[in-house]
Amino acid sequence: MRLARQARRRAHAPHSGFKVGAALRTAGGAIVTGCNIENATYGLTMCAERVAVFKAVSEGLGGFSDIAVVAASSRPTPPCGPCRQILWEFCGNIAVHIADVKGGAVTTLRLAELLPLPFDGRNL
Ligand code: THU
Repeated sequence: MRLARQARRRAHAPHSGFKVGAALRTAGGAIVTGCNIENATYGLTMCAERVAVFKAVSEGLGGFSDIAVVAASSRPTPPCGPCRQILWEFCGNIAVHIADVKGGAVTTLRLAELLPLPFDGRNL
């Protein structure tokens, strides 16, 4: 959560003003962070969670156990639909911790609760 909050400060969100930080942990204890990165076309925006996953995968990491997601909202921010798909395919049924930036109550869910009946390589 602490590293997700730190990463959130680096969010590039001039269009929505909604800054998100994420921290992805491996079973071995390595932590890779991400923040959302928006651009002028809006549609090419990359969420904090996917930045963290793609950074980690590009560094050769795997075996992910948890992801923390932090935003400045009174309502904890769960991963969006596309992020749920990417998290499922690269991380499996990880623990997803979501919290307000103030570090208040943390809600923890399993990804399978957020993405029941997923489509993945087994369907191909
Ligand atoms: N966003 C994330 O980074 N993660 C989420 O879980 C939800 C949404 C970003 C995308 C966009 O930059 C901004 O929040 C508003 O949707």
